[in-house]
Amino acid sequence: MSAATVVSKRDGIRSVSLLGATGSIGTSTVDLLMAAPERYRVEAVAASRNAAALAAIARKIGARFAAIADPTLYGELKDALAGTGIAAAAGEGAVIEAANWPADWVMGAITGAAGLKPTLAALERGATVALANKECLVCAGALFMRRAGEIGATVLPVDSEHNAIFQSLASGHRSDVRRIILTASGGPFRTSPLETMRAATVDQALRHPNWSMGPKVTIDSATMMNKGLELIEAHHLFALPASQIDVLVHPQSIVHGLVEFRDGAVIAELGSPDMRVPIAHCLAWPDRIDTPAARLDLAKVATLSFEAPDPARFPALRLAREALELGGGAPTVLNAANEIAVDAFLHRRLGFAGIAGLVEETLEASARKGLLREPQSIDDALSIDHVSRSLARELLPEIAAKAS
Ligand SMILES: NC(=O)c1ccc[n+]([C@@H]2O[C@H](COP(=O)([O-])OP(=O)(O)OC[C@H]3O[C@@H](n4cnc5c(N)ncnc54)[C@H](OP(=O)(O)O)[C@@H]3O)[C@@H](O)[C@H]2O)c1
Repeated sequence: MSAATVVSKRDGIRSVSLLGATGSIGTSTVDLLMAAPERYRVEAVAASRNAAALAAIARKIGARFAAIADPTLYGELKDALAGTGIAAAAGEGAVIEAANWPADWVMGAITGAAGLKPTLAALERGATVALANKECLVCAGALFMRRAGEIGATVLPVDSEHNAIFQSLASGHRSDVRRIILTASGGPFRTSPLETMRAATVDQALRHPNWSMGPKVTIDSATMMNKGLELIEAHHLFALPASQIDVLVHPQSIVHGLVEFRDGAVIAELGSPDMRVPIAHCLAWPDRIDTPAARLDLAKVATLSFEAPDPARFPALRLAREALELGGGAPTVLNAANEIAVDAFLHRRLGFAGIAGLVEETLEASARKGLLREPQSIDDALSIDHVSRSLARELLPEIAAKAS
């Protein structure tokens, strides 16, 4: 990770833009901005389809530009912003325009590979990127981080585990790191038997024990694909091989990530499970700001427990590790197939066990079609993403029938 561009403006105001402003990460960021108006000025906000919420946010935080990805919603957004002086635009190009709007700091909190181009646009013009959108690193992490290195851009990890690793790494030299450990809550099915998990409903899978998040990442937590995506994300962010990245289930979600150094010392970051803490760390970095998050009371928590993940009940984690070890386009395919599978599950067209099943079958079919090549460019990565989505859609009925 490059820290070449330090955007902290000790005597001034930091200008910020939010990609994915209406989502869980986006609105948590809005909370923090509202609490410190003297430190931040908001330039642009972008979302996908929720024009009313986007307009309300733009008004509330005094943004100058609002972009909605769905071109049919231009009229709705424009009307909702009438008389405010806030410019409105719609379509994929408008979201890129929001990323290009001159802001020192950009929150990349769009869900899925759809976030790749806008987030990269912000990086390309030298903005500091706070990266929540892990799928963009899973889809094209090598290209994304290489570009960040070439232009000396700063990428700050928002994901709580990666943010914890980022903070813990500061206590030693990178060459002295033996391994890093990402913790996982284990999600709502941590102790459920396989048969119960097979019959899991959408409502059950959306009931995360500790974190309040958007639907895609919540389902990913239930399958533990989220930890698999985070494994790949960590590989790119911290330039470590898969063999130096471990996963540990920690049901209390208090210890977010750990770094083990060569002398045996293990440094960790702890805190209440509230995304406003890592978001605030990125927003103020390298300074610190107050947050409304509950203070950690370890006497009240009393017990911190840890266990190894169960590969039999959480095959998605194994698939992600295999994809990372395989390299090339395998993580791109994994991510694309998972997005299709989660969407199908959320729309009740695929059973819970079918999510990992569809990802595995799509990876196998992609290997046969030569799709696991190393993406040569962002457009190449997006083309692998596109073709593997089609493959996953083709395989969906068969896997859905098997998993029911
Ligand atoms: N939530 C968490 O606690 C958490 C923690 C760690 C990492 N993350 C990661 O952060 C990212 C966001 O997660 P989330 O939970 O905040 O998701 P979310 O609540 O579903 O919000 C997604 C946001 O992205 C916008 N969006 C979707 N597609 C878009 C497109 N094509 N163009 C522009 N905007 C688009 C959505 O707009 P609409 O509202 O208009 O649909 C919404 O603002 C994900 O990659 C997730 O894995 C989340």
